[in-house]
Amino acid sequence: MSRAATAIACANIALAKYWGKRAAPGNVPATPSVSMTLAGLETRTTVTLRDLADGRGDTLVLGGAPQDGRPLARATKLLDEVRALAGATARADVVSANDFPTASGLASSASGFAALALAATRAYGLDLAAPELSRLARRASASAARSVFGGFVALGTEDDAAAEPLAPEGHWDVAIVVAATTLDRKSLGSTEAMERTRATSPFYAGWIADAPALAAEIRAAVLARDLERLGEAAESSALRMHACALGARPPILYWSPATVALLREVEALRREGVGAYATIDAGPHVKVLCRRADAEAIAARLAPLAVRTIVAPVGPGARLVEPAAEEPAS
Ligand code: DP6
Repeated sequence: MSRAATAIACANIALAKYWGKRAAPGNVPATPSVSMTLAGLETRTTVTLRDLADGRGDTLVLGGAPQDGRPLARATKLLDEVRALAGATARADVVSANDFPTASGLASSASGFAALALAATRAYGLDLAAPELSRLARRASASAARSVFGGFVALGTEDDAAAEPLAPEGHWDVAIVVAATTLDRKSLGSTEAMERTRATSPFYAGWIADAPALAAEIRAAVLARDLERLGEAAESSALRMHACALGARPPILYWSPATVALLREVEALRREGVGAYATIDAGPHVKVLCRRADAEAIAARLAPLAVRTIVAPVGPGARLVEPAAEEPAS
């Protein structure tokens, strides 16, 4: 057994959104999704094994802060699966940090659980094929299944779905401009919000019926490198997801006035002939799909309406790295 391993995974943005789970075991999405992996928005996670003999459970430190409660329970659940596969009992110390501002709204579980799945399997001496790693990450958080791969990635709705690479990192020179609207991290988590939507929104059935065709259009537009078609379909996916969530009871409204101001600015950019298209996840931040060459100018244009902007080109898949100098080797 290796005793310690460090992995890096990038965040990803869904162009076709996953929102809602099937009534199947193992956290299976009810809608197919298509994502772009985001360069430079990375989580680095080190897993170091400890003997069971000291009587302590797994530990988790996120961005320097020791965790307990739900974050630790979610990590332990993934680690329990890895221990079962490896036939091991040793507990693990997990140290994880994002190299991007948490206020970006991209400090999602995706990069975190993809990095944890890779580091943990290696620390416990396993060498899983990418689809198996993706399934393991999906069971922890479905969007994490996609961060195992770089470039453009698809995740289906079949039993025990694994994400699949759709097109590699070098396929297309586009970027996402993240416009963060607040430094406040408080918002309703995706897991709870999508379950409330499923249980109470009268629009959920329409969302589920419509999502596969939209995801297919988004896949085709990625493969054809058709920015206008992709952008329009990706905006529809995001807005239909939010419309569906608005119909929940109590309603789920993630947007702030800044969200709407940014959407209007993206419309204005388009009227001026700039290819810019918005998407929004489970929070108030706006992420703008555009040509890589236009990204800095778009970021400058959105900056007065945001607390922070970040330009993220298409990024690589999860990978193992040497532990950082300050981290214990084992
Ligand atoms: C709006 O993957 O965070 O970002 O599987 O319950 O952990 P769990 O949910 P999560 O949901 C992501 C929702 C989304 C859309 C997407 O990434 O596809």
